[in-house]
Amino acid sequence: MGVRISLSELASAVANEGGIGVIATAGIGILEKDISTNWIEANNRVLRNEIRKAKKLSRGIIGVNVMVALSNYADLAKTAIEENIDIVFSGAGLPLHLPQYLNGNTHTKLVPIVSSGRAAKIIAKNWIDKYNYIPDAIVVEGPLAGGHLGFKIENIENPEYKLEKLLSEVIEAMKPFAEKYNKPIPVIAAGGIYTGIDIYKFLELGASGVQMGTRFVVTNECDASIKFKQTYIDSEKEDIIIIKSPVGMPGRAINNCFLEEVYNGKKKPFKCPYHCIITCDYKTTPYCIAFALTNASKGNLEHGFAFAGKNAYRTKGLTSVKHLINSLLEEYKQAIRIRQIVFYPMFQRPNELYVTG
Ligand SMILES: Cc1cc2nc3c(=O)[nH]c(=O)nc-3n(C[C@H](O)[C@H](O)[C@H](O)COP(=O)(O)O)c2cc1C
Repeated sequence: MGVRISLSELASAVANEGGIGVIATAGIGILEKDISTNWIEANNRVLRNEIRKAKKLSRGIIGVNVMVALSNYADLAKTAIEENIDIVFSGAGLPLHLPQYLNGNTHTKLVPIVSSGRAAKIIAKNWIDKYNYIPDAIVVEGPLAGGHLGFKIENIENPEYKLEKLLSEVIEAMKPFAEKYNKPIPVIAAGGIYTGIDIYKFLELGASGVQMGTRFVVTNECDASIKFKQTYIDSEKEDIIIIKSPVGMPGRAINNCFLEEVYNGKKKPFKCPYHCIITCDYKTTPYCIAFALTNASKGNLEHGFAFAGKNAYRTKGLTSVKHLINSLLEEYKQAIRIRQIVFYPMFQRPNELYVTG
């Protein structure tokens, strides 16, 4: 989660609990002194440091998220691969050339993030034809996610684009590739997954894993300021809104005075120092999204706003990553037990479904 929401502290805490901890690379170097004169190097430097810190703090699996829409996308991907990162996740555009940045390093896994079966198929075909590389997994992100969304605004509430449906589309799209090349392509579901019961539901629907953002914001280890986390805790259902991001995509965020001023036309175009996002029309856009998100991550919400998933209003307080993951696991086990009771009365229960604990 960017900008500077998920860095080494959150990523290592998640990895220490057996999850995959992900460092967001978008604008990661924005607080460096030389950022406006040395955008590429400053970002690479901070990314390197964050990966090294995370690896010192955890021997678990650490990934990075690199958005295709970033103007320094290739530099960030190459830097992470040089640092022997375990996984590069890449979305916000089609990561058609991601395998090109591998440097003979066979350790790093490459995982596209998509919002449709069609996109998954295009990427897989392109990677295989051009680079002889089969995606190591696919994340499918549905319309309830936080941050930028890969849907047209009018489709966000359309049931045709529900995560449940997209997940089965992506699984179907990957099947022929997995069969032809005899390599499993796990599909990971993301967007609006909040409880262990949700996790159970998506695994039952065929997902091999889930990606969660919003719930991990309100952890002690999340790298954002306490004020950023507090906006989640204080938010009400109606505060979670869809905005038109300068990036050219819709985004989900928590409404505040800053966003109201944007919509009331009170913000004016600014001078862009680095043109960090390829698709940002910085000459006409009323604010810099990189600055706004950085301000928010530092707790300055008068000059920025928080991206958040549709369920952010359900967060009630801070917790630790360990406690959160344990409670998700407990709920997950509970969902299995309930299913057994509903579907398998005592005398019919098949052995392999017995769960203890
Ligand atoms: C604060 C925030 C920042 C995010 N930043 C990014 C990002 O930089 N790149 C990206 O691919 N996804 C980003 N996302 C999406 C998350 O990685 C994740 O897929 C999504 O939020 C999952 O839905 P959930 O928040 O309902 O669990 C962000 C989400 C949030 C809440």
